[in-house]
Amino acid sequence: MSLIKACLFDLDGVIVDTAKYHYQAWRQLANELGFDLTLEQNEQLKGISRMESLDIILAIGGVELSEEEKVRRATEKNARYLELCMQMTPEDTLPGVRAFLDELKHRSVKIGLGSASKNAKVILERIDMLSYFETIVDGNRITRGKPDPQVFLLGAEDLNTPPANCAVFEDAVAGIQSAIAAGMLAVGIGEKSVLAEADIVVPGFVGFHFSDLGD
Ligand code: G6P
Ligand code: MG
Repeated sequence: MSLIKACLFDLDGVIVDTAKYHYQAWRQLANELGFDLTLEQNEQLKGISRMESLDIILAIGGVELSEEEKVRRATEKNARYLELCMQMTPEDTLPGVRAFLDELKHRSVKIGLGSASKNAKVILERIDMLSYFETIVDGNRITRGKPDPQVFLLGAEDLNTPPANCAVFEDAVAGIQSAIAAGMLAVGIGEKSVLAEADIVVPGFVGFHFSDLGD
């Protein structure tokens, strides 16, 4: 019998590749302010809330804006981001995700979402994945962003599962730190060199099975 009774998933970059749309929309904002945003700089924004991401971007460009202007720019970025997301279909779900979630359901392992995004439900609906999740903890619910463990601790509580019996799937450094701080098994989706703190790192869900989480 496995120790893992619940799996908590990040959304962007784990369930669906929205990271490219976040990057595109943030890059446009940076360009409008007169500087560029590299892919490497974008890595720092993964898992980070919208307003915190904006602060990081403004610091990169050495630009200062009033609070009012920041809200305006962030709203504009979100509208652009959502417009890009609306092109998505269920086929945009990352390879292997559906099969892995089906396996979890088959094994009666609970499934939850832990995302900093305020758009989580809209995006899950768009790719027809909403019904898989027994709980959704998103950016509208949390008061402390990743790397704080709040998002995953709330998810575990909703699923009535002690943190030690939860696994977290994350593509962001901040998300892995959040999972570790919550006392959960941290599974990195991406590159080992970036997600070095994770307990396990895999490039994606293709060929990944529940038994790969260990006993
Ligand atoms: C996720 C993404 C971040 C994004 C954050 C907030 O964590 O990885 O890049 O900034 O969600 O997303 P939102 O959709 O609310 O702007
Ligand atoms: Mg992510």
